[in-house]
Amino acid sequence: MAEAFAVDVQGLKKSFGGLRALDGVDLRIRPGEIYGLLGPNGAGKTTLIRAIVGLVAPDAGTVMLLGRRMPDVDNLRNVGYMTQAAALYPGLSIAENVEFFAAINGADKGVDEVLKLVQLDQRRSSVVATISGGMRQRCSLACALVHKPKLLLLDEPTVGVDPQLRVQFWEEFRKMAAAGTTIVVSSHVMDEAERCQRLGLIQFGRMLAEGTPNEVRARAGTDNLEEAFLRLAGDGVVA
Ligand SMILES: Nc1ncnc2c1ncn2[C@@H]1O[C@H](COP(=O)(O)OP(=O)(O)O)[C@@H](O)[C@H]1O
Ligand SMILES: [Mg+2]
Repeated sequence: MAEAFAVDVQGLKKSFGGLRALDGVDLRIRPGEIYGLLGPNGAGKTTLIRAIVGLVAPDAGTVMLLGRRMPDVDNLRNVGYMTQAAALYPGLSIAENVEFFAAINGADKGVDEVLKLVQLDQRRSSVVATISGGMRQRCSLACALVHKPKLLLLDEPTVGVDPQLRVQFWEEFRKMAAAGTTIVVSSHVMDEAERCQRLGLIQFGRMLAEGTPNEVRARAGTDNLEEAFLRLAGDGVVA
């Protein structure tokens, strides 16, 4: 039986010293959904994503991924995670990095296909230490995609990616979601938010509002998503 939720997070809390990075987050995402995690710097987006994959041990709360309670190392094969700061081996070539991620996830092919997808097939032998930030970003995406994960977590994936390629990335995300892949993408770019099926607005480690872009706008009483976020964030400020 297919699980009802690809991601099911309940009551997640995490503090670093006295700082509450996650302050009781609930999050449920259905299979095949593109879910956008929006919020300013320091809101807790990266901590939430890291807690979802088990890289941050929560102080309280539970995470179920694809029907399995986390942490669960075997379940990580079903997950692709693109970190905010590219986690690549600088001394290896582009292709070697992607091959490495394929191998640790038990995938023996797909490298050529995914390199074409991110338009790095012509640069496959370039050593990562020598390539541009945008190329590094594309290489990271290739590493996250190569084993065809059921759940893709993308932490600000299009930072440093030129607008044309950004459109292509999103076209690809849309196709993958249509084929059943669940995608969680963090962003603070509003035109990307518009492309998500559902949004979660996060601030001070709390979910301020959730819904489709239209629902979020309606709730804030504005037809502008950026304005909606500012209004909802204003309401969420605790004195
Ligand atoms: N490993 C850590 N140690 C200490 N503080 C951290 C750590 N990771 C995140 N934080 C703090 O937690 C808060 C949320 O950070 P983060 O999840 O990175 O936010 P975002 O991704 O939304 O910018 C920030 O105040 C950040 O400085
Ligand atoms: Mg972050």
